[in-house]
Amino acid sequence: MKKEISHKREGFSSSIGVIAAVLGSAVGLGNIWKFPYVTGANGGAAFILVYLVCVALVGLPVMLSEHLIGRRTKANAVGAFQVLQPRRPWFLVGGAGVLSAFLIMAFYTTVAGWVYAYIFKAAGGALVSAKPEDTTNVFNSLVSGVGEPLFWQILVLLVIGTIIMAGVTKGIERVTKLLMPLLFILLLIIDIRSLTLPGAGAGLAFLFKPDFSKITVSVVLAALGLAFFKLSVGMGAMITYGSYVDKNENLPHMAIKVALADTLVSLMAGIAIFPAVFALGFTPDKGPQLLFIIIPAVFNSMPFGRVFMVLFFMLTAVAATGAMLSLLEVIIAYLTEQYRWTRRKATLLTILAIGLLGSTATLSNSIFAKVTVFGKTFFDFFDFTTSNILLPVGGIFIALFVGWQWGYANVKREMSNEGKLSNDGLVRLFMFLVKFIVPIAITLVLLVGLNVIHF
Ligand code: TRP
Repeated sequence: MKKEISHKREGFSSSIGVIAAVLGSAVGLGNIWKFPYVTGANGGAAFILVYLVCVALVGLPVMLSEHLIGRRTKANAVGAFQVLQPRRPWFLVGGAGVLSAFLIMAFYTTVAGWVYAYIFKAAGGALVSAKPEDTTNVFNSLVSGVGEPLFWQILVLLVIGTIIMAGVTKGIERVTKLLMPLLFILLLIIDIRSLTLPGAGAGLAFLFKPDFSKITVSVVLAALGLAFFKLSVGMGAMITYGSYVDKNENLPHMAIKVALADTLVSLMAGIAIFPAVFALGFTPDKGPQLLFIIIPAVFNSMPFGRVFMVLFFMLTAVAATGAMLSLLEVIIAYLTEQYRWTRRKATLLTILAIGLLGSTATLSNSIFAKVTVFGKTFFDFFDFTTSNILLPVGGIFIALFVGWQWGYANVKREMSNEGKLSNDGLVRLFMFLVKFIVPIAITLVLLVGLNVIHF
């Protein structure tokens, strides 16, 4: 007898829950850690403008594409393509996504580990100095250690492993719904402090007064990669989450809301950091350490700074955790559905594998500092190849699939909730974007940005 595949699939239980979970995936270290330092390294306002264009024209259509595929098929990133097109190798796009999830998790858990560590450092008083030089020392001694950062990375893996094992609705939804609003409020408080520091104006100018001479192709590639990373798109996380979304949800509206809210959080993180960077006499191009050095210094220049600092790193840890859940869920959904592994077995083996791979990223500032892959440390290699290559390439194929393979009639049906919504104009605009703009724009940026073709 054929095996019955009618096991009841869990799903998100309410519309607010869905948005909270999707937003929980999008909002993470990308907003609070990566957005500020990449903006700092690429010259500020002009970069932000390019980033916004990338979000609107490329990131958003790919996100919607993934939600459509996911909700229609109710399957994991690989299975979804097999359901829609069993005879052609489109499932490889999902396979590349599963691989990307591993590579992103490898360095993401490193940074999340630093954040977890900072909760305790802040509480214990190790960070009480408003001088960037002092907070720099604390950061350097953490990341150049061996046992300490590994310990935190392992803790991160155990935490997300536990939540994932609890299942979709209960685990993911509950945690994110509760804590996102709190993060927002705290960012607002830090923004106010940062903006009222003497000399903060230079930071605002850096963020909002574009200098277009700073835009080069590699800046555009960085903006494109960040847009993908920020919105959690290009590797099937949104297919997987889309598969848990109810059939009455208005998908285009949801994607737009998520992109707007995510961008707002990134900008708020930018406003928290850059005015302070300039006010404290620091420079914006300090790379991945920026958040860990500036934020403690800001808190130390305000009343109850230590309490707020602990709270800030706790909420950042929560945001990072929500984002990691979506990455891990891509792999777990794949293993449990394609190979019928139990959730438990899939989770345990996956966090073990990520731990092994990720330790090389964590030790990139110590034992493996001199080891390079294509001229980059393990940490930078995982970061660069995922954001700047794998996610954009995944985006090209997802867009091509939806635009040319799946086609207008199917898209219209899924995007209008079987005709219940009248959004034909939106469907047409979306089809134009995924058929032409998205694939062409990404291909050009990749080819030029990676120096394959020159102008
Ligand atoms: N978007 C998350 C952040 O900004 C990271 C993330 C979660 C992600 N899931 C993803 C990135 C899937 C790419 C793909 O922190």
